[in-house]
Amino acid sequence: MTVHARIIGTGSYLPARILTNAELETRIDTTSAWIEERTGIRQRHLAADGELTSDLALRAAERALEASGMEAGDIGLIVVATTTPDRVFPSTACVLQAKLGIINACPAFDVQAVCSGFVYALSVAHQFIRSGQVESALVVGAETLSRITDWTDRSNCILWGDGAGAVVLRAADTPGIVATHLHADGRYQDLLFVDGGVSLKKEGACYMRMSGNAVFKMAVNTLDAIVDETLEANGLGKHDIDWLVPHQANIRIIQATARKLGMGMERVVMTVDRHGNTSAASIPLALDTAVREGRIQRGELLLMEAFGGGFTWGSVLARF
Ligand code: COA
Repeated sequence: MTVHARIIGTGSYLPARILTNAELETRIDTTSAWIEERTGIRQRHLAADGELTSDLALRAAERALEASGMEAGDIGLIVVATTTPDRVFPSTACVLQAKLGIINACPAFDVQAVCSGFVYALSVAHQFIRSGQVESALVVGAETLSRITDWTDRSNCILWGDGAGAVVLRAADTPGIVATHLHADGRYQDLLFVDGGVSLKKEGACYMRMSGNAVFKMAVNTLDAIVDETLEANGLGKHDIDWLVPHQANIRIIQATARKLGMGMERVVMTVDRHGNTSAASIPLALDTAVREGRIQRGELLLMEAFGGGFTWGSVLARF
């Protein structure tokens, strides 16, 4: 019998500090109206000094575990999607394992696919469960993007936020995760990147750099294609999808995907206005928000999709 993987619990965490557009107006040459009109973002959360990606991940993971009814010590695999790990190593997943007090020696590792990180991580955990290697998995997206944000770059710093989201997956007789579709194309590195890293050995701080307009166009076209690919590969029509749970990059990108699906915005989970773009954390944050608001119900079909640096992109089709 085929083994499937079901999402049995969701959780999320946002740091307390809120940075509003109005406050950004006092720091850079911008207006609240410009930011909201171009991005849909009204505010974002920022991690406190000393609050690490693993701390955000821990809070989200605890909430997901609580919702799932599983004990941390029974988890069979930990995958953390992040672009902003606490350290080069150990992985944030290993740090999280220790913070959760897990001593069962389950595998734990990070996945780096920038804004597509959660979709990638969910796909990896899904394969582990399907193959029978593990019976459960904790999948987390967690970021402290504020640490790689150039707060003097007005076309860039307005976008990002910090946060974490998590899901617990468990083996089940029926889906669950129906399908995952992943892609990457490394030729576009110059359009979205961090201007330093370990091997580059650049002096000083490293920041995100982006050609916003080019990334915008690529994101819309690529997400359009991944929606087609996902529907076609799974024999679905666009009206079969109950909820779009998109990566929260920009309201205009999300609206374009919703239009493609012929979907009213009331069936699209939207948190970008409150969270900004939290990269790998954005989908699990949005998912948990909609689940806790009682909007997403058991048995409904969700389409999660993301596009990000790399470029990377992908989708997860899941019956909740
Ligand atoms: N406030 C006011 N004006 C600003 C501004 C700000 N924060 N940032 C840029 N501008 C100005 C520019 O300087 C430019 O002025 P000019 O015409 O006098 O040269 C003008 O606004 C238009 O700039 P442009 O970069 O073309 O704006 P845009 O409409 O493309 O919006 C983004 C910029 C970043 C909001 C938009 O490109 C975007 O959202 N891109 C996708 C980014 C994304 O989602 N990345 C992550 C993918 S995972």
